[in-house]
Amino acid sequence: MKGVVLAGGAGSRLRPITFAMSKQLVPVANQPILFYGLYDLAEAGITDVAIIISPETGQEIRDAVGDGSRFGIKPEFILQDSPDGLAHALQLAMPFADGDSVLMYLGDNLVRQGVADVVGDFEEHQPNAQILLAEVPNPSAFGVAQLDAEGHVYQLLEKPDNPPTNLALVGVYLFDNTVQQALDAIEPSDRGELEITDAIQYMIDSGSRVRASMIGGWWKDTGKKEDLLHASELVLESLRTSLKGQVIDCRLRGEIQVGVGSKLVDCDVIGPVVIGSNVEIERSTIGPNTTIGDGCRITDAVVRKSILMKEVELTQWRLTDSLVGRRASIGGSAPPAFVELTLGERSEIIG
Ligand code: TTP
Repeated sequence: MKGVVLAGGAGSRLRPITFAMSKQLVPVANQPILFYGLYDLAEAGITDVAIIISPETGQEIRDAVGDGSRFGIKPEFILQDSPDGLAHALQLAMPFADGDSVLMYLGDNLVRQGVADVVGDFEEHQPNAQILLAEVPNPSAFGVAQLDAEGHVYQLLEKPDNPPTNLALVGVYLFDNTVQQALDAIEPSDRGELEITDAIQYMIDSGSRVRASMIGGWWKDTGKKEDLLHASELVLESLRTSLKGQVIDCRLRGEIQVGVGSKLVDCDVIGPVVIGSNVEIERSTIGPNTTIGDGCRITDAVVRKSILMKEVELTQWRLTDSLVGRRASIGGSAPPAFVELTLGERSEIIG
C-alpha cells in the first residue's frame, strides 16, 4: 500500500496564519501537525508516500519533511497547481500509486489511534474503498455518511446544509486501484472542486464495495483555530514532564516540558504546558493547555489555552485561546482583560 498525504490546499479558514505559512506546519505540542500523520503512516508500514503540495507553501513542506528518514518514509512531492479538491489531489497521485492500493491522509488531520488498525482491516476485508466515520456535533462542516440498517454506507454528502446524520468522514480514506474509474468519471462540484465524496458515491452507485467503520479514539480536523486549539489540548493530555532548561523560583503544577536552553524565572506554570528550547519567561503565568515555541520571550504576561509559534515576543498582555504566528510581537499597555488573538507571522501589536 502507498500513502498519499494532502499538504496543499488554501487554508483560508486559518488566515492570517496561513498567509505566511502552511497550515499543515502549524505546531501542535511543538511538532507540525503534518508530522503526526507521517509517523502514523510509517507505523502502519506505509513507507512510499506521495505528499501533495501547493505552489505557495510547497517548498516549506519539502524543507520540513526533508528526505523522510526521521519518520521512516520515502517521500515524493507532487505539485498541485491549484486547490481543485481532494479527488483532484488523489488523481495527481495515481501514477505514483502505480496500481497499488492507497491510503489518503489529509495533512491537517490528527488521528489519535493512528492508521495501522484500519490498514489491517482493509487488507483483511479487501473492499474497493474504506472510509472512517466519527460522530460530530457539527456535521454540516464535513463530508457526511448515511448508513443502511446493516451498516453499509449508501450515501455521502459534502458539507450538507441539512445533514441527515452526525457521521462525519474522517480524513483517512483507503482505496484499491478501481478508484481510478471514479476519479475519471466525476465532475467538479458547485464549489468548483473534485470532491472525494463524489468519487466514493460513484463507487457505491456502480456496485463497488465501500466499507465504513467507526473510528476509535479521537480525531480532529484542524482547519479552523478552535479545532486546532482543541487538537492541541487533546495531544497535551498525554504529555509527560521533562525539564531540560532552568526553572528558578517557579511554581509548577501538572505535566510540563521545558526545552534545552530555556530559562523560567518567578513564573506560575500550570500544565499541561510545552515550552520549547531557548525560551525566556519572567514573572508570567503559563497554562494550562499552552505551547510556547522555541526562542519566545515572555515577560509579565499570562498565556492560557494558546499556541505561540517560534520567537514570539510578549509583554504584559493576557492571552487566552490564541494562536500567534512566528516572530509576532505583542506589548505596550495591555487591555484590562484577557484577549483572544489570531495573529499572523511578524505582526506587531503595540498597545
Ligand atoms: P481542506 O481543509 O478541506 O481545504 P483547504 O486547505 O483548502 O482549507 P480551507 O477550506 O480553509 O480553505 O483540505 C483538507 C486537507 O487537504 C488539507 O491538508 C489541505 C489539503 N488539500 C490539498 O492538498 N489539495 C486540495 O485541493 C484541497 C482542497 C485540500
